[in-house]
Amino acid sequence: MILEIIAKKRDGGVLTRDEIAQIVLGYVRGEVPDYQVAAWLMACYLRGLNAAETLALTQIMVESGDQLDLSSVPPPTLDKHSTGGVGDKTSLVLVPLLAASGCSIAKMSGRGLGFTGGTIDKLESIPGFRTALDLETMVAQVCRIGCCLAGQTERLVPADKKLYALRDATATVESVPLIASSIMSKKLAGGAHSILLDVKVGAGAFMQTIERARALASTLTAIGRGAGRQTRAVLTDMSQPLGRTVGNALEVREAIETLTPHAPHSPRFRTFCLQLAGEALHLCGVAPTVEAGIEQARQRLDSGEALQKFRQLVEAQGGDPQVVDHPQRLPSAPHIGDVRARESGYLAAVAPRLVAYTALRMGAGRQKKEDTIDPAVGIEVLHSVGEWVEAGEPLFRVHARTVEQLAHAQNELENAYETTPEPVPPVPIILERL
Ligand code: URA
Repeated sequence: MILEIIAKKRDGGVLTRDEIAQIVLGYVRGEVPDYQVAAWLMACYLRGLNAAETLALTQIMVESGDQLDLSSVPPPTLDKHSTGGVGDKTSLVLVPLLAASGCSIAKMSGRGLGFTGGTIDKLESIPGFRTALDLETMVAQVCRIGCCLAGQTERLVPADKKLYALRDATATVESVPLIASSIMSKKLAGGAHSILLDVKVGAGAFMQTIERARALASTLTAIGRGAGRQTRAVLTDMSQPLGRTVGNALEVREAIETLTPHAPHSPRFRTFCLQLAGEALHLCGVAPTVEAGIEQARQRLDSGEALQKFRQLVEAQGGDPQVVDHPQRLPSAPHIGDVRARESGYLAAVAPRLVAYTALRMGAGRQKKEDTIDPAVGIEVLHSVGEWVEAGEPLFRVHARTVEQLAHAQNELENAYETTPEPVPPVPIILERL
């Protein structure tokens, strides 16, 4: 009985796979009401789920819908997930880079969540780009060009959609086993044999302390390995925005520049992409070591093969491939203005959430679910922490839709940085691997 299962978890008991299935699959079928599942979620939040329960919950969620069948796709199959951060456009670089390095990647991504941007919103700033692909189209495209980048389909993990909405309305989102099962159910249903997880840590991430990030990373990898997938997690720094842009079309432009040999780029972001690529290529057996993987990826970037793969990806999904050579074809905002350093010094901090919320309020993200995104607006972050800046030098460049938006954003960003006369040690970008 559902009532007994709720009471068992409320009292700290360990649920069987069958008990979890009764709740989750019953809820998806409409047989268990919201209020009982809400009570069960709160019991799980307060009492926790052990490793076996968390794996069972994840696998039951996967079984609630269709799964991507990658058996016809050339191996190795690889997937990558980031827990979300400010300016995180890594997938736009990594997916074509890894496909150009010999992997098959059917990547499903999300939309912006809270203060973080979403890969799907970013891709939709490319004129014509289709993100709604059905499972058969995804598989066919991966067989043809090695990769696809699509939104979550309705058919995949319907249990997560329903449970996530209920968690959101019952203050039960921030539970490590519930977050981990939600993330991994979508990764397992995505069918790849190897899964690289980028768990972000810091003020611009959902996990603000290394301890919380470690707990999430080890739960994620335990689920992946328990389900028979090669899984690795890296903890990565999110104490400042990633790269030099925050905002949809701006981030696509930065990704294209990072993929383009000899184009201007953020060295920190390029290094980050290469390190993740090295981890991924080692994980799935394409490279014998992480260092060899980094070197292979560097060659694919420098030769222009990764950029060519991105062009194929854009074309395959109906986007204007000319944006790759002419990023000025991307949407652009009419009002641009800078925020300048008040004094000379080393940049000690750039506040990622403040930058993100300033961009979000201009329309780069949604304040309510039904809001539409303005792809053109956003913020260029012109310096990284540790760099020397002269008084009067531009620190941020705001791209706004209106003069009022521009003035407001400039005002907000005055509080988004700190300088100091003392040198600031650079922050490592990869913190730990699990
Ligand atoms: N992202 C997800 O997919 N699920 C969560 O629960 C939290 C973040």
